[in-house]
Order: sequence, then C-alpha cells, then structure tokens
Amino acid sequence: MGSKGGEGVYQRIISWIPPHDVYVEPFAGLAAVWRYKRPARRSILIDLDAAALDRIGDEAGCLDRIGDEAGCLDRIGDGRGDVETFVGDGVDYLRRMRPNGQRVFVYCDPPYLRETRRDPDRDYYLNDWSREDHEAFLPVVAGLGCPVLVSGYWSDLYAEALAGWAVERFPATTRAGPAEEVLWANYARPDSLHDYRFIGSTFPERWRIHKRQRNWVKALGRMAPVERRAMLSAIVEAYGADVGGELLGSTTSAVMATIDLLGGGGSRAL
Ligand SMILES: C[S@@+](CC[C@H](N)C(=O)[O-])C[C@H]1O[C@@H](n2cnc3c(N)ncnc32)[C@H](O)[C@@H]1O
Repeated sequence: MGSKGGEGVYQRIISWIPPHDVYVEPFAGLAAVWRYKRPARRSILIDLDAAALDRIGDEAGCLDRIGDEAGCLDRIGDGRGDVETFVGDGVDYLRRMRPNGQRVFVYCDPPYLRETRRDPDRDYYLNDWSREDHEAFLPVVAGLGCPVLVSGYWSDLYAEALAGWAVERFPATTRAGPAEEVLWANYARPDSLHDYRFIGSTFPERWRIHKRQRNWVKALGRMAPVERRAMLSAIVEAYGADVGGELLGSTTSAVMATIDLLGGGGSRAL
C-alpha cells in the first residue's frame, strides 16, 4: 500500500503535472512518480525514513553521491536532473519553502488517513500519521503559493480542507485489492503538461495514443530528411507554443521536443 508505481496510477498522476523547473515531493517513500516522470531541472525528495531515500538512490542507479553541508543527506547525480534527497519533516519543509519566482511544483503523497484504509489499525509506514497530523498538514498545503497535487483516499476531512480544489477519482489496484485513488489539485486540469507520454485514462486509450504516435514517427522516418524537417517545422510553427515555450527555445530543441511528443522519447510502460 502507498507506492504510486501501480499500473494506471503513476500515469494518471503524471498526466496532472504542469510544466515546472523544480519538483518537490515531501513524503517521497520510494518516489514512484518522480522515477517515472520526465526529470525536472531540480528535484527535491524528502522523507523521515532514511532507508526509503537510500533505496531511491539505489534503484535510480545513481553514480555519484556527495554529502552536502546544508543538511542534504545525498545528492544524486544520475542523469535524472539535479536530485537532492533530505531526511526530515516534509510538512516543516513545506511551511518554510519559498518558491522565489521559480516554477515549483509540489506532489504530496502523505500516509493515508487511517479511517479511509481497509485496516485502520495496521501501521503501514515507519512514520504513520494520526488524524491530528493530517489536520496540521492540510492548512500548510492549502496555503502554498505554487501548484500542488495531493494524493489520498476520499475523506470529508480532505474534501473540506481542500474545498474548491479540482478533484479526480480513479480506480486503482492495490496489494489489498481494488481501491479508489483521489487527486486534489489547487489548479484546473492542465492542458500543458510536464510529460505527455502517459495521457489517456485507461490502458486501451493510452495504447491507442501511443500507437498513433509510433505511426506518425514511422511515417516521418520513411521521408527524405529534408521533407521530414519540413513537416516538423510546419508542426512546430503551427502548434509549437502548445507544448510549452520552454521546450522550444531553439530550432533543435523545437524539433527534439516535437520528436519526443511524437513518441520518440523512450519506451516506458503506458
Ligand atoms: C504513502 S507513502 C509515499 C509513497 C510514495 N509516493 C511512493 O511512490 O513510494 C508516505 C511516506 O511519507 C513518509 N512520511 C510520513 N511522515 C512524514 C513527514 N512528516 N515528513 C516526511 N515524510 C514523512 C513515510 O515515511 C512514507 O514513506
């Protein structure tokens, strides 16, 4: 219970994440969403559980760890952007966080509220939460001045504290059986995403979009280079702004962004 790496779960979450430069996950656990999403320029992963953060480093295949004087346990140079992991209190971090004009995005996956769990008496994490912990967290997250997405199960406590936020409810399969995941966002469902690879709300829908991307890329691949570039530049000219100006700073990055958008950027599970 808890990891967001389940089939159909991380894809739905990533398809809610708007473009950002700094990614903050204050209750990281094994940070499945961070692992599957396209890297940000800087990512900050926090957890009270040092062992979980250690496993993130191991699973990410990090090459390089440098202790940091600022209390940063590990700094992972693994080709996934600039990633810092902190052992500490994520709520406290959010309280003190200042976006300072940077495009910060926060994804919160705190321990589930006990009363929403199948077995409310069982502890699932080393650092499980009481109702009071959730009551302390909610005003902090509600007061953040940047886009925030919160995962959980439906509860009146969350619905009231996050009233006015956008909500998506979707089915998920957990080790304990079927469940309904809920996402609360303090922004409207975005048309511009940080990562477009997982759009579609069901596997068949994601597969259909993926196949279409592959067919477009194959058709481009069959063209003479100059014709392919003509097609790409026409697409960028017509729709480049739609995929986010930050991806389209130069002709090369524009073409690369388009190629990525068309499905040339890797083969993760849909
Ligand atoms: C639901 S799990 C996160 C799972 C994660 N999304 C994943 O994909 O593996 C919640 C995590 O919050 C951590 N946690 C609990 N209280 C915390 C706090 N005050 N500050 C930071 N982390 C905390 C727990 O150790 C646990 O790893």
